[in-house]
Amino acid sequence: AAEVRVGLIGLGTVGSGVVSIIQRHQDELRHQVGCPVTVKKVAVRNLNKQRPVHIDSNMMTDQIEDVLFDQEIDVIIEVMGGVDTTREHVLKALQNGKHVVTANKDLMAVHGAELLRVAAENHCDLYYEASVAGGIPIIRGLSDGLSADRIKKIMGIVNGTTNYILTKMSQNGSSYDDVLKKAQELGFAESDPTADVEGLDAARKMAILATLGFSMDVSLDDVSVKGISSVTEEDLDYCDQLGYTMKLIGLAQRDDGRVEVSVEPTLLPKQHPLSSVHNEYNAVYVYGEAVGETMFYGPGAGSLPTATAVVSDLVSVMKNMRLGVCGNAIQEPLHKRTLKEDKE
Ligand code: HSE
Repeated sequence: AAEVRVGLIGLGTVGSGVVSIIQRHQDELRHQVGCPVTVKKVAVRNLNKQRPVHIDSNMMTDQIEDVLFDQEIDVIIEVMGGVDTTREHVLKALQNGKHVVTANKDLMAVHGAELLRVAAENHCDLYYEASVAGGIPIIRGLSDGLSADRIKKIMGIVNGTTNYILTKMSQNGSSYDDVLKKAQELGFAESDPTADVEGLDAARKMAILATLGFSMDVSLDDVSVKGISSVTEEDLDYCDQLGYTMKLIGLAQRDDGRVEVSVEPTLLPKQHPLSSVHNEYNAVYVYGEAVGETMFYGPGAGSLPTATAVVSDLVSVMKNMRLGVCGNAIQEPLHKRTLKEDKE
């Protein structure tokens, strides 16, 4: 292929960030994969809605099938959210020979095993780095970087909204409702923030991480969940006076073949490394038998951080296309920059 053509399903907070990065980082992308990357079509629910990025109106459609079945599109990026209907769309895309990149933790936590199997059967890639902890490459960390180790424990702050709420409530004594509203305005919270504050979003992410880290099927039903909706400013004050910080902690551990996964508000001593993870930031501590302690830290929500993970998945797909793993192989030679060319 002389160019890689991408179809986007959804153009909300993450989708707009994806378009923006593809438009602004063309040079970076071309140097990674040897050919240009273009967004060919975008499916949205409402064609008349104002968007923060510019896309030609003739590339927009409100028919998802127009994107899924476009023969010229190599990779589908799913950033619309949703579970059951979205599963159907992703299945159709894979069965039609398209690679898929998704940011959808709800989908991957429930149907991940099936979708990955169908992707493999159709010799397609299915990447989902953005589904857990936004811009932090924790999916790659577990599935590539630490894949040779025996992971014993994963402990993390994996929901930006609740971490933002707990941080602001303990710093300025702001009320729970005001801070939640602010998190929604900043685009961290889910459209229904109940999933954030009741711990469900974090539970989905922990199921995905435990599945990868322990190489076993951990489903959402295996995770015990408690959220932060009943936490008060007084509770946080009290913790502070006692020398603790309250965080919504996801914990997955295995011991002698027994696996336990939970999400709950947890008191951490102030000197604990996870205590100093503030605002929408996420962090994941991973303990492996051989490697020992590792820690991954970064922005866990927001448009551009999450979109970086999506577009990096797109780069991985394109690198596989270069190897001729599937579909239109990229044959253009790679051009490496010289120091002179790299002005930034
Ligand atoms: N609502 C999620 C969060 C978005 O707050 O972490 C990123 O998955």
